Amino acid sequence: MTIKQTCKAALLAALYMTISGTVRAEDAPKPLAPAEAFAGKCSSCHGKDGKGNAAMVKTLKFDPAALDLTDAATAGKTDADLTKVILGGLNKMPAYQGKLTDEQVAGVVTFIRGLASPKTEAKPDGAALYAKCVVCHGKDAKGDAAKAKAFHVDPAALDLLDKDTLAKTDAEIAKITLEGLNKMPAYKGKLTEDEVAAVAKYLRAQAK
Ligand code: HEC
Ligand code: HEC
Repeated sequence: MTIKQTCKAALLAALYMTISGTVRAEDAPKPLAPAEAFAGKCSSCHGKDGKGNAAMVKTLKFDPAALDLTDAATAGKTDADLTKVILGGLNKMPAYQGKLTDEQVAGVVTFIRGLASPKTEAKPDGAALYAKCVVCHGKDAKGDAAKAKAFHVDPAALDLLDKDTLAKTDAEIAKITLEGLNKMPAYKGKLTEDEVAAVAKYLRAQAK
């Protein structure tokens, strides 16, 4: 074959694969996404949240712990263990071999892991975050005298524990922190709303 012919053959092959691939994808029913597969096939026994369906536990006399897919027992198993139970079944747990594709089972296993560890990001630590404010508002949040002088502001303006500040709502304190005020820098993009709320909570606690 000449180079030209080789190229033509490769191009045709690629074209054929594209066309046939498209046709096959259209023919086959779209496989359910993991969340849909779980809701449709598993939640009746395991509950929407994977913690076990209470009604099912009662009716079928299931062991509630066995149905809980978010507990330590399930977390301690490997993906291969869980895949085996899903494909092969176990006691009253039905087998899904032939009903779910390998890919779907893998997706559902990942989904189950996600249920077990919901996105509980560590709660923002107001005291630690306040470190960002110390330079102007002082360690005790009563305002840094030198900064007040340098900024030519009333020292009371930097006091975050005075009546003036405490009279403000959390929303107002959050707004000032996020958007800034005169020489007070804006923290939008530097602190999340949750973090700002945590700092405000810390300040209120300091005031007590
Ligand atoms: C008819 C009720 C029922 C349905 C529907 C069901 N399960 Fe189960 N499943 C069970 C029972 C009962 C057990 C406990 C089996 C045992 O330990 O005896 C179980 C156990 C399991 C386990 C093992 C948990 C562990 O800690 O060992 C996994 C994983 C699991 N199921 C996943 C699924 C998935 C994924 C689906 C949906 C595709 C599903 N199940 C659908 C009843 C059900
Ligand atoms: C670079 C200095 C500086 C830093 C850092 C700073 N601030 Fe300020 N802040 C100011 C100044 C100046 C004011 C007074 C603004 C005015 O009233 O003109 C102020 C005012 C405030 C007020 C309003 C007080 C009131 O009584 O109305 C709040 C609330 C506040 N800051 C929160 C914070 C928090 C929370 C942080 C840390 C995340 C922070 N600030 C960091 C300079 C700063």
